[in-house]
Amino acid sequence: METLSKLVLRRPDDWHLHLRDGEMLKRVLPATARQFARAIVMPNLRPPVTSVDAAIAYRQRIASALPEGMVFTPLMTAYLTDTISPDELERGHKEGVFTAAKLYPANATTNSAAGVSDLSCITAVLERMQAIDMPLLIHGEVTDADVDIFDREAVFIERHLIPLRRQFPELRVVFEHITTSEAVQYVADGDHRYLAATITPHHLHINRNAMFMGGLRSDFYCLPVVKREQHRQALRKAATSGKNCFFLGTDSAPHPRSGKETSCGCAGIYNAPVALESYATVFEQEGALERLEAFASLHGPSFYGLEVNSGTIILERRCQQVSPSSGGDGIAPSDELVPFHAGEELAWTVAS
Ligand code: DOR
Ligand code: ZN
Repeated sequence: METLSKLVLRRPDDWHLHLRDGEMLKRVLPATARQFARAIVMPNLRPPVTSVDAAIAYRQRIASALPEGMVFTPLMTAYLTDTISPDELERGHKEGVFTAAKLYPANATTNSAAGVSDLSCITAVLERMQAIDMPLLIHGEVTDADVDIFDREAVFIERHLIPLRRQFPELRVVFEHITTSEAVQYVADGDHRYLAATITPHHLHINRNAMFMGGLRSDFYCLPVVKREQHRQALRKAATSGKNCFFLGTDSAPHPRSGKETSCGCAGIYNAPVALESYATVFEQEGALERLEAFASLHGPSFYGLEVNSGTIILERRCQQVSPSSGGDGIAPSDELVPFHAGEELAWTVAS
């Protein structure tokens, strides 16, 4: 078969991204804006983004952090709490500030302490979201200490997602960063007007062995935690299947080295610098390069009811050595970010 020397794709979007704030925002935003036209921006700041005003202010800080000449649209999300009001969400949605709302079960992950302690607390919120057709983005893991960490997603489906979707069958739900064959199956079997899932590059590349290869590898620790090989295989089949219920969401989640390399390290993998190249590698390995554009650039907008982007991006078959860390002038080693694929060679490079 002829090997392609370049791929021209409609410009993609990232449907799940952590941009952080302050200096970190300035450091990480260009990597995403170089590849993606838009991104769904996660609201798990400290304090979290729980009001329309906070989202407008954060959106403004993102715009100010964007280097001259770059074009990028942040799509803001509201962080659901036990007490957030349906009216605030509706106002934000109607004013074009909130594209969606994010459900973090309380204490499921980074900065989720203010998340939802019990789904029954937000019944009125979910009713309203269904009524106004505002998407609900779910971190789908139970937090019960007696559930094994590797089972938390599968248990969430049975205990919470199935009942929630029975109660709100026309609520548009994105099951974020899925990691298991159970999640793949559940989403594939659903009604795709109302149910979709994002898949990260790292869950397509690594299984749980990666966290323990020759020692404890904090760079491969994220939540939901990476699972067994059989789950990675199911995710690769799903992402490359061409089914419109699966689309790109990097979950790029930068933490400084000091936050990763400590006795209680943070969850999160910083994949933004090579996100598209990382996905392209998987699609090529699966013999599905012709389906990359749909996954990266078409299925997401279609689910969210947004226009696809008009521009294009070029992926060239040109090796790149991924740098071992991204520091820079005036950045202390403890503040460096280690990108996904650090020190590896990737066969694809986004043309500048
Ligand atoms: O690995 C993760 N990092 N998973 C999450 O759910 C949150 C994220 C973060 O904000 O660091
Ligand atoms: Zn995330």
